[in-house]
Amino acid sequence: RLKIATIGGGSSYTPELVEGLIQRYHELPVGELWLVDVPEGKEKLEIVGALAKRMVEKAGVPIDIHLTLDRRRALEGADFVTTQFRVGGLEARAKDERIPLKYGVIGQETNGPGGLFKGLRTIPVILDIIRDMEEWCPDAWLINFTNPAGMVTEAVLRYTKQEKVVGLCNVPIGMRMGVAKLLGVGADRVHIDFAGLNHMVFGLHVYLDGNDVTERVIDLIANPDRSGVTMKNIVDLGWEPDFLKGLNVLPCPYHRYYFQTDKMLAEELEAAKTKGTRAEVVQQLEKELFELYKDPNLAIKPPQLEQRGGAYYSDAACSLISSIYNDKRDIQPVNTRNNGAIASIPAESAVEVNCVITKDGPKPIAVGDLPVAVRGLVQQIKSFERVAAEAAVTGDYQTALVAMTINPLVPSDTVAKQILDEMLEAHKEYLPQF
Ligand code: NAD
Ligand code: G6P
Ligand code: MN
Repeated sequence: RLKIATIGGGSSYTPELVEGLIQRYHELPVGELWLVDVPEGKEKLEIVGALAKRMVEKAGVPIDIHLTLDRRRALEGADFVTTQFRVGGLEARAKDERIPLKYGVIGQETNGPGGLFKGLRTIPVILDIIRDMEEWCPDAWLINFTNPAGMVTEAVLRYTKQEKVVGLCNVPIGMRMGVAKLLGVGADRVHIDFAGLNHMVFGLHVYLDGNDVTERVIDLIANPDRSGVTMKNIVDLGWEPDFLKGLNVLPCPYHRYYFQTDKMLAEELEAAKTKGTRAEVVQQLEKELFELYKDPNLAIKPPQLEQRGGAYYSDAACSLISSIYNDKRDIQPVNTRNNGAIASIPAESAVEVNCVITKDGPKPIAVGDLPVAVRGLVQQIKSFERVAAEAAVTGDYQTALVAMTINPLVPSDTVAKQILDEMLEAHKEYLPQF
């Protein structure tokens, strides 16, 4: 039976993962799930760990749940390592969101300056985890959910020998479910050809029962009276119908930051003054969730978890693990080495693209090139991710400034430097490399 180690086990998303493992136990016989956290997360780990134990017991599934602060012990002999941690916690995220706003720049956890800094804090920890994996579970797969998932996957592919790595995001499954809802059909009848980067992915074609319905879906999303396809953490402002029809591919919810920058910035500024930034809203949500988790009678994933942006992540994570384990060869959108699947992205870079999932990992499905209208933006974000990953690994100030400046959401070199300096100071506790 399998051993899974989950780093950042105290996350409020853990019940998602446990539910996914329970539902798939018949095809994915997990004997041990080790939830690992750091001392600051001990209390959360214990609460969510106790719920996880109640969940497996109630379901009658023989998965042993272990809670630990000892990462190496958790990794020892693991078959799959999943990561869902947040260096610096939601407090650090709130800074990522608030500081750029002072300079009139989008403040977001995976885009713009916030995405850069989340990467700078996260990548050294991931590299450390991989060093431990080389020693304690050299054959394990690393399934990384930790954001910025695209930049993190890029860093692992470029700076380590860990080939068994897959980056995972719930945006593609969210888009598929959103489209199914718009069409009024079950999600299993909808297929989308995904290609791009993490949080920069496009649906190139949409199929219903195998028939191309791309234009119909774009018409539905372009209709301002219909709610579009989005995630809980991204406000749905609708799209300019003629823009969307002209573009003729499905944008992901995060494209709003690039194609509706002024409106999204205004929304963020307003929220920062009233209900708080997303991190601040999530702090409150998390408090409520952990209060629920403490209830000794609760033994299922509470529906309130769906208020978090990462809802349905268990589906993505557990189907991926099961397809690797069972060599299912089904198609799933994941972050993996491009290997030529998208023509205008370097072969060795990470992309988010539909893959055939085999026991040897994801095999990306070639899409040729991206439509010219979106190709440049995707390439620019890839350059940003690469330079940012280099800055995270080297701790080089000038490299970090270049990353900040070439991000499309940052208006100039001077503003970039101001934001960089303020954020380096604000986050210095979590940036030992600088
Ligand atoms: P969280 O703030 O609850 O953090 C989860 C746990 O990580 C906490 O218990 C914390 O103590 C722990 N942690 C912090 N530093 C650690 C370290 N160095 N080693 C081990 N554990 C550590 O975060 P969350 O809201 O549950 O999100 C977790 C991560 O998942 C974030 O990086 C978030 O961006 C990401 N996420 C990704 C997606 C996706 O689509 N890929 C969706 C949602 C969330
Ligand atoms: C989205 C994304 C994640 C993102 C998260 C934020 O759906 O895919 O990568 O980090 O949700 O959710 P939150 O509830 O933390 O704002
Ligand atoms: Mn994501």
